[in-house]
Amino acid sequence: MALWGGRFTQDSDVRFKHFNDSLVFDYRLFHEDVEGSRAWAKSLVTVNVLTQDECASLIQALNELEQEMTGRENEIALAGDEDIHSYVERRLIEKVGALGKKLHTGRSRNDQVAVDLKLFCRRACDEILKSIRGLQRQLLKVADENQGVIFPGYTHLQRAQPVTFSHFCLAYLQMFDRDFVRLSNARDLLNVCPLGSAALAGTAYPMDREELAKNLGFKGATHNSLDAVSDRDHVMELLSAASISLVHLSRLSEDLIIYNSGEANFIELSDKVTSGSSLMPQKKNPDACELIRGKAGRVVGALMGILTTVKALPLAYDKDLQEDKEGLFDALDTWHECLDMMSLVFEGIKLNKDKIEAAAKGGYSNATELADYLVSKGVPFREAHDIVGQVVLYAISVAKPLEDLSVDEFKKFSAVIADDVYPILSLQSILAKRNVLGGVALEQTKAEIAALKQHLNA
Ligand code: ARG
Repeated sequence: MALWGGRFTQDSDVRFKHFNDSLVFDYRLFHEDVEGSRAWAKSLVTVNVLTQDECASLIQALNELEQEMTGRENEIALAGDEDIHSYVERRLIEKVGALGKKLHTGRSRNDQVAVDLKLFCRRACDEILKSIRGLQRQLLKVADENQGVIFPGYTHLQRAQPVTFSHFCLAYLQMFDRDFVRLSNARDLLNVCPLGSAALAGTAYPMDREELAKNLGFKGATHNSLDAVSDRDHVMELLSAASISLVHLSRLSEDLIIYNSGEANFIELSDKVTSGSSLMPQKKNPDACELIRGKAGRVVGALMGILTTVKALPLAYDKDLQEDKEGLFDALDTWHECLDMMSLVFEGIKLNKDKIEAAAKGGYSNATELADYLVSKGVPFREAHDIVGQVVLYAISVAKPLEDLSVDEFKKFSAVIADDVYPILSLQSILAKRNVLGGVALEQTKAEIAALKQHLNA
């Protein structure tokens, strides 16, 4: 039964009904619709539409309905009603008869869906914020356990300067921290209640909308009814936050895939998050990371979808806005799942320390140190840079790392190079010199880990 039959003389075409109905996906707003309806019933008492007793009966019926369907939400999708609002109203009328028909007084599905979706977003934010913290804690644990593991650092995917595996983990931890703040900010901005805006002009029942907002846990009520029913900024913002975070997760996945490859062999991903090939028995594929990298695409796609849907949409509510939900639900589920999956990936990660150290030592990643050494002996940096370039070229030709060249060999390029060059070229010294806030020195990492432990527990 539709909520609007009176003005129509013909039934909808079944194909149109199928096209128009949103229950198959907006059944996910069931709890929010019930929650919003309870608060609305209370407000209707304040404007003398419902008596206290009627309100109590409606709330009891809503509670019953919620209890009955908890754990069976999937069944709601198949109930055949137009949308979740129609479903809840029908079920309510089945329970309490004519009284159930009073609940929609002064309310429209336009403000109802707006408030339901905001309640849903708020809850989703809280869950995802927890998962971000979970991943950060896991990264911190791995960073803590591998503080001394020197790792090749890259620019242009060419070995550049040594870093540590901890420093690498903490880099991503920082990105996820920004994701956390971004999502918290979005939650804060959306936490304003549109209910009472009715279809577009505001409800005709003079209720205290601030009170209604408080009853639903919002920090306040919206100030313009046209905006309130057509605003989907929160959908765009959550999808934007999700997209940025998925980009971070995808970059991390890509790094891990490279480090896990047979060519690098720096890390080994656990059997728990990899799979085999049906043909090639030797294979162990990094599927979890590949899937995260792949899923970033559909989350970014959902963001493009809502931006394009809302662009050029006239005020106020248009049915186009019903297209806000599927992309959002899918993207938030995906984000949540990817965060948890990445935690699992780091739970079982193993480091091949020998391969890592050999790689960190190779690739002439201490060449900058030699240039700085020459500078310390009075050679201008530009000149030093050129000298070291020639030394590297020579070292490549004799297939030796810089630290294996003799003083005599060095002297062919610059007379100022002496015995004291060797300690400078060691990986330990390279790290230790970068003892600046945000630098790779072990001392910095240690302090940072201590600070992050506090931060993540706060
Ligand atoms: N199902 C709609 C949505 O998801 C809400 C209904 C608004 N319908 C209307 N005729 N104004 O946006």
